[in-house]
Amino acid sequence: MDENTALIQAYKTLRDKTVELCKPLAIEDYVIQSMDDVSPPKWHLAHTTWFFETFILKKFSKTYSEFNPLFHHLFNSYYNGIGLPYPRPKRGMLSRPTVESIYSYRKWVDDHVIHLLENSNNEIQSILKLGLNHEEQHQELLLMDIKYNLFMNPEFPAYVVTQTQADSQSKISQLDLIPIQGGISEIGYDKNDFCFDNELPKHKHLLQPFALGSRLVTNGEYLEFIKSGGYHQSNWWLADGWDYLQKNNWQHPLYWFQQENKWYEYSLNGGLKELNVNQPVTHVSYYEADAYARWKDTRLPTEAEWEYFVRKNKIKIDGNFLENNYLQAKTSSSNQFFGDVWEWTASSYSAYPGFKPFVGELGEYNGKFMSNQMVLRGGACVTPKNHIRISYRNFFQSEKRWQFSGIRLATNL
Ligand SMILES: [Fe+2]
Repeated sequence: MDENTALIQAYKTLRDKTVELCKPLAIEDYVIQSMDDVSPPKWHLAHTTWFFETFILKKFSKTYSEFNPLFHHLFNSYYNGIGLPYPRPKRGMLSRPTVESIYSYRKWVDDHVIHLLENSNNEIQSILKLGLNHEEQHQELLLMDIKYNLFMNPEFPAYVVTQTQADSQSKISQLDLIPIQGGISEIGYDKNDFCFDNELPKHKHLLQPFALGSRLVTNGEYLEFIKSGGYHQSNWWLADGWDYLQKNNWQHPLYWFQQENKWYEYSLNGGLKELNVNQPVTHVSYYEADAYARWKDTRLPTEAEWEYFVRKNKIKIDGNFLENNYLQAKTSSSNQFFGDVWEWTASSYSAYPGFKPFVGELGEYNGKFMSNQMVLRGGACVTPKNHIRISYRNFFQSEKRWQFSGIRLATNL
C-alpha cells in the first residue's frame, strides 16, 4: 500500500471512531459545557475538523471553499497566529450551528481531505499525521468531558453499560518498590516516525539509584489516606494544594462520594457504582498524588526516572486502553505502566534542551503551554493505544483532575 492510500485509510478510520464515540449521546448531550475546562461534544467534532480545514485544505487545496466562514473563529481553540479564537468558557452557549450542521461540516471537509490525499506530498502527509494525532487527543478529551458533563446531572446517567462483573473479582498483587541502578539515562523520542515536538530532542539525564512502584496505587489504599484524616492535615500538602483543597472543600478524589458509610464512584461505563477498592485510584490532582506519596513516606517519580525505568525493563506498550471499551481503570496483576491512568510525575512541563517547536502557526501546539503544568506519563483507559509512545508527555495544571490521572510511587535508594 502506498503512503497516500495508507493515510486515506487511517484518516477514514480515525474520523469514524470519533463519530462512533458520540453514538451513545442524546442530542442534548452534544451542547452542554459544565465547566470552563470542558468543551461540548459538538465543539470537539467541529474543532478537529477545523484543524484539517485550517492547516491542510486552506493551505494546500486550490479548489477548496470554506463550509462556513464563521467556523474559522468559532472552532479555533487557541491559535492566535491564525486569528481570534472564540472564548473557551462560552463554547457551551452555541446552540447554533446545529449538531446536524456540524456533521455536514465533517463530511464536507472529509471529502476534500480524501481528494487531496490522493495526490499529496511530504509536507501534506506530515501535517496530516499531526492532524490524526490531534484528533486522537480529542477522542480522549471528548470522553473526559462527556464524563464530567454527565456527572453534573443528579440522575448520574451512564455513558454506556457494557462491563462484566469480572473486574470486581480480580486479585491485585502486593505493591513493591522495585529498585533500579541510576546512571546516565537517555530520554526522548528515538525513532523516525511521528512524535510531538515536545518529545524532542533525545537527551541525557544523570539519575541517582531509585525505586518505582510495581503497580499503581489503588482506591482502597487511597481510602486509607482519607480515613487517616489526610484531607485535614496540612503537613502532607504543598502550600498551593492546601489552599486549593480548602477553597474547594476537597475531601476525596473527583467522582467519589460517600453515602451511609459506603463509598461510590461515578464511571462512564455503568454510571454510579460502589467503589471498587482494588481498582487504581483515578481523577486525583497532582496535589493529591503528591500528598498521598508524602503520607506513604515516598514521592512521585520524575519523568526521566519513569522513562528510564520503562526502557531499561523493556516494558511493552500494552494495557487497558480505549480499544478495551472498559473506560475506567482496571484491577490488574500487571505493572500497569501503560493504559489505565496517566501517572503524575514530579517533573514540571518544560522544554527539553534544544527544543524546537513545530514550524509556523503550528508552533503554538505545545510550546506555549510550558509553564505551571506537570508532566503525566503512560496513557489511560480512554487513550487510543496507537497514540502512546514511551516518550509521550501529557501535561496538566496541578489542580486539574477531570483527566484520568493516578499515582505511581517512587523512592530514593
Ligand atoms: Fe485541539
